[in-house]
Amino acid sequence: MNPLIQPIDLRGLLCPNRVFMAPLTRQRAKDPDCIPGELQAVHYSQRAAYGLLIAEATQISPEGKGYPNTPGIYSAAQVAGWKIVTDRVHAAGGRIFLQLWHVGRISHTAHQPNGQSPVSCVAAASPAKMVIVRADGTLEEVPASMPRALETNEMPRVVRDYELAATNAKVAGFDGVEVHGANGYLINQFLSGSLNTRTDAWGGSVENRLRLLMSAVDAAGAAFGYAKVGVRLSPMGNAAELPAAPDDRELMLRAARELGDRKCAYLHLFNHYFGAHGWNGPFDRALAEGMKKNFNGPVVLNGYSRDVASAERDVREGLGDAVAFGKLAISNPDLPERIRDGAPLAEWDASQFYGVGGKGYNDYPTLVTK
Ligand SMILES: Cc1cc2nc3c(=O)[nH]c(=O)nc-3n(C[C@H](O)[C@H](O)[C@H](O)COP(=O)(O)O)c2cc1C
Repeated sequence: MNPLIQPIDLRGLLCPNRVFMAPLTRQRAKDPDCIPGELQAVHYSQRAAYGLLIAEATQISPEGKGYPNTPGIYSAAQVAGWKIVTDRVHAAGGRIFLQLWHVGRISHTAHQPNGQSPVSCVAAASPAKMVIVRADGTLEEVPASMPRALETNEMPRVVRDYELAATNAKVAGFDGVEVHGANGYLINQFLSGSLNTRTDAWGGSVENRLRLLMSAVDAAGAAFGYAKVGVRLSPMGNAAELPAAPDDRELMLRAARELGDRKCAYLHLFNHYFGAHGWNGPFDRALAEGMKKNFNGPVVLNGYSRDVASAERDVREGLGDAVAFGKLAISNPDLPERIRDGAPLAEWDASQFYGVGGKGYNDYPTLVTK
């Protein structure tokens, strides 16, 4: 029996298989309103047979934005747009969480309200290159803008933004939310021992660096219930963006324990950053095992179990309970059925990862395998 096609219970949400769709930014919710709708409804409902769909990173506030055409979950129109998506996924028999996102310093003034500076834990620019849209509609690659450090008295407002976003996600019909604590974005910036040198209660020590993550999770939990809140972390660091610090390991193991104590829906472990800002470095198996032990609940793996064979192996060996597929989910709307049947998998077209309309988005065919 292939363990990937066995059902799994995520703290009360029954998923028919362990083939999850990883959160994937596709930049098809048009600026400036960032409202998803019909296009995304087709995309996600085509993939309703996945054990769980984790919808793309979605900004919790205008300040949380760092890329063109990414969706939000802070306005009534965005909630209404997402409702079209969740209704269609549910009608097709699926389950869908929304990834809650604040980019922090991985942004540019062009993406910020009134051209303001992005925010972070400290005033230190990200090495990331950002994409902005020129007046003539063409794209330009530019350095990330210098952020300003959030004031201590602003932190409760940031936490409230997470709570509002989670409440909105619930109203929009999502089955839960995933707090994005990975990939170098705001929460990851606060977690980082190499970046977060704040001297207030939100930085410095392990306990203080964990405060934003845990506050965001508590805020989402207040809105939705902890059983509906998953968390994504990249415990093995993310290379150039946030270099490793000596107590990172202690921090990650403690995060897993505290999230487990709250009985969060799942812990989603992403092995390293990928692509332009970093690399998929060696996998620290002992750390992954330690986090699973400390969390003591459903663990979703991504970025290590990168193909079907390794995913199957890792779930069989108990390293994780489910695997989130990213690029393969882009090109295989029926991945769970293909895995079940041992059918060939389709390749993705990276040139259409970010784009306009349904091309390279809603036109990947399914195999007729029923
Ligand atoms: C086009 C694209 C968009 C992505 N967007 C997100 C995102 O919105 N949130 C996130 O946490 N990770 C995002 N990622 C990372 C993926 O979720 C995943 O971690 C990565 O692709 C590695 O998994 P894979 O080898 O199965 O593709 C993105 C990756 C790609 C290729």
